[in-house]
Amino acid sequence: MITSPKGIKDILPQEEAYWDFVENAVKKTSKAYGFGRIRLPIIEKTKLFIKGTGKNTEIVKKEMYSFKTKGGDDLTLRPEGTPGVMRAYLERGMRSLIQPVKLYYFEPMFRHERPQHGRQRQFYQIGFETIGSDSSIIDAEIIQTVYNFLINLGIDNFVFQINSIGDINCRSKYKKVLQDCLSKNKSVLCDNCQKDLQDRIFNIFECKEEHCQQIVRISPKIIDNLCDLCRIHFKELLEILDEIEMPYSLNHSIVRGLDYYTRTVFEVLTVDEFGQMSSQLSLAGGGRYDSLSESIGGPKISGSGVAIGVERIISVLEDKNIDVSSGNKNPDIFIAQLGFTAKKYGLKLFDILVESGINVEATFSKDSLSPQLKLADSKGARYTIIIGEKELKDKNVLFSNMKSGNQEILQIKNLIPELKNRLNV
Ligand code: HAM
Repeated sequence: MITSPKGIKDILPQEEAYWDFVENAVKKTSKAYGFGRIRLPIIEKTKLFIKGTGKNTEIVKKEMYSFKTKGGDDLTLRPEGTPGVMRAYLERGMRSLIQPVKLYYFEPMFRHERPQHGRQRQFYQIGFETIGSDSSIIDAEIIQTVYNFLINLGIDNFVFQINSIGDINCRSKYKKVLQDCLSKNKSVLCDNCQKDLQDRIFNIFECKEEHCQQIVRISPKIIDNLCDLCRIHFKELLEILDEIEMPYSLNHSIVRGLDYYTRTVFEVLTVDEFGQMSSQLSLAGGGRYDSLSESIGGPKISGSGVAIGVERIISVLEDKNIDVSSGNKNPDIFIAQLGFTAKKYGLKLFDILVESGINVEATFSKDSLSPQLKLADSKGARYTIIIGEKELKDKNVLFSNMKSGNQEILQIKNLIPELKNRLNV
């Protein structure tokens, strides 16, 4: 039997309540903060990610699903949304709109990573991106947007870990300072970090080896190597976060592995009841990307944003037993039928009830009554309408209250106004 590709999952109807719940929260948050939805193409030119995300990043070097088309184009299933949003902003004339432009997306992404819990090869991201402002207040607004989105969902066990990695100039100076320090301790570093010392030195911050982390802890911090403008930008951001009482902690090891980041970077991590990080996997990650536009051939345009992993959010909702049923209302009416004539009428009635705005469900593939009533019960229906040949002959239906078990006979000719009245529709 042919199965789905490794690391790629189906999302089944029984999981839909979670997806609805998250999608409703995204709509609410994006409306409150003025983000307009952008639906991006799933494939982009491979060059967009080589130039935008960066040719030396893990994503571009190891994780992209890239292919050549029959016409000879090099295309890639997008591994992340930010370069595509910037491309669309530049290509679709959004520079002529009132700045900054605020966009959000809810889209699948593709990365050829080693699948494990919380890490898939196809996963969904919710992204909030604000393009056209270099102000620190925009970074604070992005952080506040994520905060309110998570709180709206009922998730409160998280912390923002924040850092500034300065601009390209600060980073290249800091790279030298760090190289000097780490070269002196080269023999203590793991093989990978030794290899990365020249071109990918910042990878050491993400290395899981304890002896590498010990060296990181005693190494110079980027925060002490920022230029005046970058330092002021970061100071302003922290002042705003303090003013709006945003819970955050500084983490000088957060560098984020993508080339476009400048100045602010942050990650959202879950914490346990003692405030300790409960997973290495981040719920969300983001930051400022003032160099992205230029690296994909555009003019200098600033941007700031975040992407939130939907499957990881849903996993927290499940762990916390959060009630997501509001996004998936139980049916008010379930239609059960006995016999062919009743089925025909049942299907017609189903259509009339849908058109009347009544939340209705039915199954037309079962002949006897008891499996239909069992289904009505499992769906949590308030009432069941039972239609049999005799009822139809008498031009009425049996109306059963699923909770009390009370049954009444209702006339077909008054059925819709009667139901609307009882259901307050
Ligand atoms: P990222 O840190 O690569 O950033 O991904 C953001 C989030 O996507 C992660 O925090 C995680 O929740 C989720 N995620 C990433 N990879 C996987 C995976 N393999 N399986 C499940 N979930 C995953 C970006 O993508 C940037 N574009 C974020 C950004 C937006 N920066 C500025 N604007």
